[in-house]
Amino acid sequence: MVDLPKLELSKLDLPGQWERITADWAARGQDIADELAKRVKQESRSFARREQKLERSARGWLASPSGRVAGAAVLGFVAGVAASGARKVAMQGSEALAGDWMAVLKAEHRLAEGLFEALLKTTARQKTRRAALFAKLSYALEKHALQEEMVVYPALKETHVDGMAKHLYADHADMKILLHELAETSKDDPAWIERLRALQACVAHHVSEEETDVFPRFHGKMSPQQNTKLTLMVHREGLKLA
Ligand SMILES: [Fe+2]
Ligand SMILES: [Fe+2]
Repeated sequence: MVDLPKLELSKLDLPGQWERITADWAARGQDIADELAKRVKQESRSFARREQKLERSARGWLASPSGRVAGAAVLGFVAGVAASGARKVAMQGSEALAGDWMAVLKAEHRLAEGLFEALLKTTARQKTRRAALFAKLSYALEKHALQEEMVVYPALKETHVDGMAKHLYADHADMKILLHELAETSKDDPAWIERLRALQACVAHHVSEEETDVFPRFHGKMSPQQNTKLTLMVHREGLKLA
């Protein structure tokens, strides 16, 4: 069993603390990655067992008269409890192992592009499929935007690549307005697919600016330690919505 380094985010700014942790990670990179992958698997298995147990006890209580009254509420609670732990680890785990904030964000761009392609292949008669894919796309874009808005864009100023920050925030605002309009439009309305194309164009332009200009310049100006710290912060932010 490998001892994982302890990460206390509130103490990362103490002198020497971050350097010690990153040196330790660098020296033991592969065994730590293996251990993290193993733990994600273990957590996923124990999550499935816990979810079944919670569901059984909730169903037993629902069979009673008082249980029936609050049925919807308790099922919502069970779902919330189950979603709060291991699922987060499993959702963010593979990204954490990617090891670099720019690689993580680029992988998320590819994921969104794939979802756009899948959505554009649907017809107006496939309302359910459209709704399911659109829910995935909304979640992917919102989680991605949170990571960039809370971590990467504010940090641009540290390396004087901050001229683009406001522009990138404004692109995200356009994207969120289009997401809202799409959510409000019926999935079989001809306007829906046109709005989706508008959102795809908006995201494609924005992604191109990030990948060909802002991110490589920013990444290149930061030290390996700063890039590693940023990766951890992106990962922590992503866990909030995972
Ligand atoms: Fe962005
Ligand atoms: Fe992005």
